[in-house]
Amino acid sequence: MSKLEPGQRMTVEWRGRPIWILNRSPEMIERTESIDPSRLADADSSVPQQPEYADGPLRSIKPEIGVLIGICTHLGCSPLFKPEPNAEGVGVDDWPGGFFCPCHGSRFDLAGRVFVNVPAPTNLEVPPYRFDSDDVITVGEDKETA
Ligand code: FES
Repeated sequence: MSKLEPGQRMTVEWRGRPIWILNRSPEMIERTESIDPSRLADADSSVPQQPEYADGPLRSIKPEIGVLIGICTHLGCSPLFKPEPNAEGVGVDDWPGGFFCPCHGSRFDLAGRVFVNVPAPTNLEVPPYRFDSDDVITVGEDKETA
């Protein structure tokens, strides 16, 4: 992922599913961390939709690099990347940037945490992964299973 600039997302495939790797800029991290937790259904990632090393607000090993399975937890559509604040078409004011599912309107922040009052019941899933170097991630294995 050496060409992945801050603010960009790349998609790879793992077990037939899209995996998003997101390089969050400092400003994106700040916007994500400052979301009022009452707007999120599971702000602290208490539902086990991620490995233990990826719990917490940003749901990742490194704050800037997010790794998510790009499948909506409602009925399996692939949400759209809407990283910019107040992006059009997401159906809310004060949008902090995130992912919007066009099928039934579920919304997720840039850490994959689901907002309240949408059909998706849980945060996006974080797959097991590990860093082999600063630029190389292995998805599907972590340090514990390696
Ligand atoms: S599949 Fe995403 S909102 Fe229904």
